[in-house]
Amino acid sequence: MTKVSTRRFFFGGTVVFTLVFIGLTIHTHTTIAARTHADAIDAGVVRGLHVWAGYNCENCHTLLGEGAYYAPDLTEVVAQRGRTYLAAFLANPATFYSEERHGRLMPTLGLSGQEIDDVLDFLTWVDGIDTNGWPPRPILVSGAAPRGLPGIEARPDAAEPAARGQALFNGAGACASCHALVADVALVGPSLAGVASRATARVSDPAYSGDAGSVEAYLRESILAPSRYLVPGERYSAGGISFMPDIAGNLEPGQIDDLVAYLATLR
Ligand code: HEC
Ligand code: HEC
Repeated sequence: MTKVSTRRFFFGGTVVFTLVFIGLTIHTHTTIAARTHADAIDAGVVRGLHVWAGYNCENCHTLLGEGAYYAPDLTEVVAQRGRTYLAAFLANPATFYSEERHGRLMPTLGLSGQEIDDVLDFLTWVDGIDTNGWPPRPILVSGAAPRGLPGIEARPDAAEPAARGQALFNGAGACASCHALVADVALVGPSLAGVASRATARVSDPAYSGDAGSVEAYLRESILAPSRYLVPGERYSAGGISFMPDIAGNLEPGQIDDLVAYLATLR
């Protein structure tokens, strides 16, 4: 390369990349309001931000990757866990996790009912930020990690419905963060080990209040209408509302079929 062409190369490159940089900066500034859905920031969200800051939640947690790395990231937590459960969790975290089993605990911070409501408004708003699909995997609390479980490698595009359902269960469906497959291990929800066998007894039990008449129908109802019948146990629901969030809205009908096919294999 001659001296002249080197210089051209240098100045040309600098100009091109400066223009790219300016273009991307303008793009960010013109789209940021839509991506963060800033119009949805109401008084509750603002109060919730003050609760978040006032109780130093970010000294343990991250939001959008910002904060401390002691506790799980909470960017999509409302979508994954649902408000009913989170309200009960924030009022008394020790109901759901034990220090012996999980090694670390969230302290009971003494939040008032109003503060819990506000901080959940704030976290719901954070949920709606367009993060380009981040975080890439479900938020996991200690002790609930599906990593290393047999079958986590099952393919979401497998030919078998049950194999697709298993991939969904452990992955994008976030079911595994609330349901263990080991007998008698209750995370947020009951263990699903043997759920298909139990369903037979469940639907013929006089205490059963739902509409299902078969194992498949019971499993489907459990996903589509969690509060229709509540698995007995005071840490699974509050005021007649299941802690299982309304997940069906985020799933395609075919995905629900796949999940039912997978759960029906848990005998
Ligand atoms: C001293 C550290 C600490 C502080 C401060 C803290 N947390 Fe946590 N939090 C944890 C830990 C650890 C967990 C993981 C669950 C467990 O093991 O108890 C957790 C879990 C959670 C969860 C997820 C529960 C689940 O089952 O998915 C939410 C939501 C949460 N915290 C919200 C908050 C909010 C809101 C604040 C501030 C008002 C806060 N945390 C302050 C340590 C903390
Ligand atoms: C935030 C935690 C949470 C998530 C996420 C969750 N569940 Fe649940 N689930 C529960 C709780 C709590 C119950 C028990 C209360 C009830 O009956 O609804 C339950 C009950 C069930 C039952 C009935 C169990 C029985 O013994 O009869 C099935 C089946 C089920 N869930 C499947 C799923 C599937 C599939 C997914 C993922 C698409 C999922 N759950 C996601 C909390 C959760």
